[in-house]
Amino acid sequence: MPTYRIAPSILSADFARLGEEVRNVVAAGADIIHFDVMDNHYVPNLTIGPLVCQAIRPHVQVPIDVHLMVKPVDRIIPDFAKAGANIITFHPEASEHIDRTLQLIRDHGCKAGLVFNPATPLHHLDHVMDKLDIILIMSVNPGFGGQSFISQALQKIAAVRQKIDESGRDILLEVDGGIKIENIAAAAKAGADTFVAGSAIFGNPDYKAVIDAMRKELASA
Ligand code: DX5
Ligand code: ZN
Repeated sequence: MPTYRIAPSILSADFARLGEEVRNVVAAGADIIHFDVMDNHYVPNLTIGPLVCQAIRPHVQVPIDVHLMVKPVDRIIPDFAKAGANIITFHPEASEHIDRTLQLIRDHGCKAGLVFNPATPLHHLDHVMDKLDIILIMSVNPGFGGQSFISQALQKIAAVRQKIDESGRDILLEVDGGIKIENIAAAAKAGADTFVAGSAIFGNPDYKAVIDAMRKELASA
């Protein structure tokens, strides 16, 4: 069985109690904190930035996975690295120079990744596999929590799994959007190993019950 990681998205957490929320969700078994950054330009919503990343950093030891839904991306990357981000991912449509942006993230000591919207083709991977630590497949269109899983993402995950395996590289395959207890095993079977879940976890008062149930599904995937 691969090492599976569960990454709660704090987009669905209580922003008035964010420190407590990240501590509680890590105590409930989260492996990673998924941090959604939206700019009301690349996506039609506005969320949180480096100051909030810095504010939650001392509350948890697990990696903070910054998902940038912003355009342009380069200017803000050093700020997130300084704020304690461990992983930084961005959308290829949002960068004029994808290779340079990936290098910039690594130069700042973070793991780097590309994010693919449901309609974004995978050819952006072709020349940068050696600069990737993580690939994120969106199973919703980015911008909001609580949307329904788009099942075509499963074929895309399978295609990326094949590319990663062929490359022989150590690259995480993350899925984000509409992940629930009911569909996490399907995403794992398709080849994902890292699972973002926002509303499914923070929408239930018992975070541990949801994370445990997800792990049980993964164990039998
Ligand atoms: C969507 C975000 C997701 C979102 C997931 O643009 O990137 O991380 O928070 O939320 P759920 O799990 O509710 O779909
Ligand atoms: Zn996200």
